[in-house]
Amino acid sequence: MKEFKILAVVVILSLITYWGVEPFAHSQMHKHVEGHNFVYDGAADIADASKDKAAAKKAFWGEVNQIDKLPGNAAAGEALFGACMGCHNGAGINMGGVIPPVLDHAGSLYDKKYLIALIKDPAMASNVDHKYANTMMHPMGAVQAMVTTPQQIADVVAYIKAKKVGKMTPQVAYEEACGRCHANRYGGLTQLGETPKFKTEKEALAHKLKVLDEQSLVEKYMGKLPPDLSIMIRARSEQYMETFIENPQTQLPGTSMPRVGLTKEGYESVKAYLEETGDPSKEARHAIGPWVILFFVIFTVLAYLWKKHHWKDLH
Ligand code: HEC
Ligand code: HEC
Repeated sequence: MKEFKILAVVVILSLITYWGVEPFAHSQMHKHVEGHNFVYDGAADIADASKDKAAAKKAFWGEVNQIDKLPGNAAAGEALFGACMGCHNGAGINMGGVIPPVLDHAGSLYDKKYLIALIKDPAMASNVDHKYANTMMHPMGAVQAMVTTPQQIADVVAYIKAKKVGKMTPQVAYEEACGRCHANRYGGLTQLGETPKFKTEKEALAHKLKVLDEQSLVEKYMGKLPPDLSIMIRARSEQYMETFIENPQTQLPGTSMPRVGLTKEGYESVKAYLEETGDPSKEARHAIGPWVILFFVIFTVLAYLWKKHHWKDLH
């Protein structure tokens, strides 16, 4: 009987810690952040803005919401898209801190209103305007002089949304949305993409040097090297990841990581890639879990009977 009492005390203390103390401590250390279903209408930005910025944010998102209502002409947008391709050309050349991402799947990856906002003012859209005295200084800021009228913005966005280039696999989604800043070692990705197989050590070292150079540029641009995301999905809760991607400022106020403006579909793809690299055995583990628990239950019963058998003469 004594053993059962000890066991009961241990179990009760564990449960109190698990369901009581830990969640309480957690709620005190991390404030709860509401998600907004991958809708980017500026409401949260305006609410969070300091007094001197609120009016500018309100005016900005007001215009974005107006442009969103304009019918866009995809055919006219195709010509304007040429201005984007000047930088987003897949040549892998760093521009002002990062390599502009390939836009092949931008229509699926990014939200429509977010794209409108981004073309209108990249720093405001990605909620890093606190980094710039003048938002033309953003490395994509020059776009403001290329695609200028509300109608032009609506047309380019209509073109991007209509354009479909092949299937968006989780890896492609990750590379286009996050890969310019974050390496993923388990996925074999650096800021320069997949590392090719090299025949000689010299070539491999030369490539490594290029990666290090690229990382220094990103580090200089961001203030710190963005962390490798190989196992990040295991280190952060699902809720944290989702609200962080929607708006990094909510979890790390003042951070230089831009809001990426993903659609729900885009986020699910990126998440699938992070799960693939960070936790490749998740399914197998979940399948085997109940069997392991069953084994421990049977083992406990046997151990108990065995002990009882041996101790019965010692009392
Ligand atoms: C002057 C070069 C330049 C031009 C022109 C330009 N971009 Fe960019 N773009 C960039 C750079 C650099 C980044 C990466 C910025 C960053 O990560 O901080 C970027 C990022 C993006 C992103 C990813 C945004 C995000 O939040 O992750 C999208 C989408 C995009 N650009 C679309 C466009 C479209 C559409 C156009 C044309 C209307 C365009 N860009 C024109 C340089 C440019
Ligand atoms: C323009 C560069 C840039 C892009 C693009 C970017 N990140 Fe980041 N990310 C950063 C930087 C910089 C940090 C470090 C932030 C800090 O500590 O302030 C960071 C941090 C993170 C963190 C860690 C947050 C924490 O709690 O410490 C996660 C998770 C993350 N990024 C996920 C993503 C994902 C997923 C994407 C693509 C959808 C992405 N990032 C795109 C720059 C970027």
